[in-house]
Amino acid sequence: MLLFQIISCPWFLISFLVPCYGSLQLGFSKLQRGHRLDRKLIQSFPELSFLDCVIECLVTPRCKSVNYFKGANFCEINYENKTTAETRYMESAGWVYSEKEHWPKELAGACSNSTCEINQTCKHKRYSEDTFFECVLSDCGIPDQNGIDLNTTRREDAIGIHRRIHASCADGYSQSGSGWLICQSNGEWKYDIVCTVLTNIALGKPATQLSTYLDYNAAYAVDGIRETNHLVHKCTATGDGDTNPWWKVDLQAVYYITSVRILNRGKDEYGDVSFRLQDVTVTVGLTESDINTPCGFFAGPGTASQLVVIDCPTSTQGRYVKISKTTVFLILCEVDVFGVPV
Ligand SMILES: *[C@@H]1O[C@H](CO)[C@@H](O)[C@H](O)[C@H]1NC(C)=O
Ligand SMILES: *[C@@H]1O[C@H](CO)[C@@H](O)[C@H](O)[C@H]1NC(C)=O
Ligand SMILES: *[C@@H]1O[C@H](CO)[C@@H](O)[C@H](O)[C@H]1NC(C)=O
Ligand SMILES: *[C@@H]1O[C@H](CO)[C@@H](O)[C@H](O)[C@H]1NC(C)=O
Repeated sequence: MLLFQIISCPWFLISFLVPCYGSLQLGFSKLQRGHRLDRKLIQSFPELSFLDCVIECLVTPRCKSVNYFKGANFCEINYENKTTAETRYMESAGWVYSEKEHWPKELAGACSNSTCEINQTCKHKRYSEDTFFECVLSDCGIPDQNGIDLNTTRREDAIGIHRRIHASCADGYSQSGSGWLICQSNGEWKYDIVCTVLTNIALGKPATQLSTYLDYNAAYAVDGIRETNHLVHKCTATGDGDTNPWWKVDLQAVYYITSVRILNRGKDEYGDVSFRLQDVTVTVGLTESDINTPCGFFAGPGTASQLVVIDCPTSTQGRYVKISKTTVFLILCEVDVFGVPV
């Protein structure tokens, strides 16, 4: 190991060799064998020694940690560490994980004093004097476009120049495009994804139901109150003993309806009757007398305060949305309808 360390100290470090060797001990002693950080890549490098991998991280301001695969001398530098991205830290045979801050800054040579920006990497001007460096654009940053969810990135995705990542739209947005983001050589992302905020087109629209239990009327499902304690905040309920109950809303215009969400009743002082949300059919229609175009079905049984998401087939068109079941009590705390005008 001693020989390995000395040989791996780059030539420009000769003057630092003694301090370098001394503090390298810390870095090596804190290696996390059999681990890596997943899906937080800035860049990867084949055929790099372990110390060169650490140095690549030290000269890249955005880098916080490295993953190294010894078998293939494969280096990955990450923009998070295991503290900032706890859930992405995982066991992975053959890999070694290491934190930037466990290594002496001097390993970066002239670059340890660089003033490079967060999206740059410091490069030594080799073959010139030791103290010269230049800052080179190295990544496109972490995409922060409204509505983008980076939880769907893939193992090989990275934010470095000429790399790409796969994203999707967050809950509450509709997506168009392939989902790929490509980091161009000018350091700007090329987005092939557009996330459009979904608005709940059912909110405040006229709603009716087969029958009403006490005063739990149809409008409570479109009142925008998302609490699920039936006794305090009120949900809809159809009449006791009425089988084949239904509830419907008039959107007051024709839409392509993409999805319908039902917020189920929670636990309350009557206990937990959330199971009543089962075998629920959602249909849409252009006229009030014909609401029979299938959108989707929820077999259930629902759980307390569950948000049931029912996606309609593409191009489902309608002005009315109907929710029905074949056993007693249809109880809805809130119904959201998402769609775009035709
Ligand atoms: C991880 O990154 C954070 C934020 O940059 C930093 O404060 C922390 O010291 C790093 N390392 C560890 C082991 O937490
Ligand atoms: C970095 O700067 C400090 C103080 O300005 C200096 O002592 C040190 O030698 C510099 N390191 C390098 C590698 O240039
Ligand atoms: C991504 O996942 C994390 C936890 O894994 C979660 O906290 C975060 O809200 C998720 N982001 C989105 C946009 O869903
Ligand atoms: C790099 O980062 C700097 C400062 O953070 C910013 O001003 C600059 O626009 C970024 N460059 C690119 C190409 O994104």
